[in-house]
Amino acid sequence: MQREIQQLLRDWQSAGVTHWTRPADVPRAADPESPPSEPESVASTPLPAATPLIDTPMPRQAPSPSLPARTADSDDRAAQLKQVADQVALCVRCRELAGTRTQTVFGVGNPHARVLFIGEAPGADEDKQGEPFVGRAGQLLNDIIKACGWKREEIYICNILRCRPPGNRTPSKEEAGNCREYLDAQIAIVDPEYIVCWGSCAAGNLLDSLEAIGKMRQKWFQHGRAKVLCTYHPSYLLRNPAAKKPVWEDMKFLLKEMGLEVPGKG
Ligand code: URA
Repeated sequence: MQREIQQLLRDWQSAGVTHWTRPADVPRAADPESPPSEPESVASTPLPAATPLIDTPMPRQAPSPSLPARTADSDDRAAQLKQVADQVALCVRCRELAGTRTQTVFGVGNPHARVLFIGEAPGADEDKQGEPFVGRAGQLLNDIIKACGWKREEIYICNILRCRPPGNRTPSKEEAGNCREYLDAQIAIVDPEYIVCWGSCAAGNLLDSLEAIGKMRQKWFQHGRAKVLCTYHPSYLLRNPAAKKPVWEDMKFLLKEMGLEVPGKG
């Protein structure tokens, strides 16, 4: 484990957190010192007109309950993420990936996000631009985010891998294992209430499950303090547009659990 990440881990431990992923029983403390300039939240942001995901028109998100207060470490999150990202940029744990990547693709979004998305691995566009989900699958993911009444920058988005596998092949177990420490660090720092695993690679690796993605949908899993929802990957939807419907069902399942109104209802 690299030194800076170890230091971050020690910081968490001294704050009473004993795992990278905070255990479910560590409460989310109210923070009276939360800065008034806290980034816009899913709940408080005026939302744009929603873009239909499939054929169902989805109007604006209705006002929703305010976010629970965050813990006292809020201010440090962006800095902590940057620290880990700097480590990732130097990572050579996977020789082949380190030798073929243009750059690492760490993650993007709100360090205070209620919802964290996990995909599989960067593709060619992401490798070029250094940001997850910016290619065709990313455009579809953006549509899904809008259909939920959110903005992309309100979510935190990352992948199982931070380097592009050549030819976009599926990440190996070893590669996922090498990158796991970075994913765990991102989850621990953002401390989301909800995680969405997009596709079987994300779901299988995060939850250490061999179950088919279709069987993991419409259920809640627990990972540390976060509730985890699994659904189909946007790339799969590009190849199988009929699967957009179950994905929208999954998003509604998530919105309801979050106490948010489902766009298009009422
Ligand atoms: N697919 C993924 O899983 N992640 C990306 O970042 C892009 C495409």
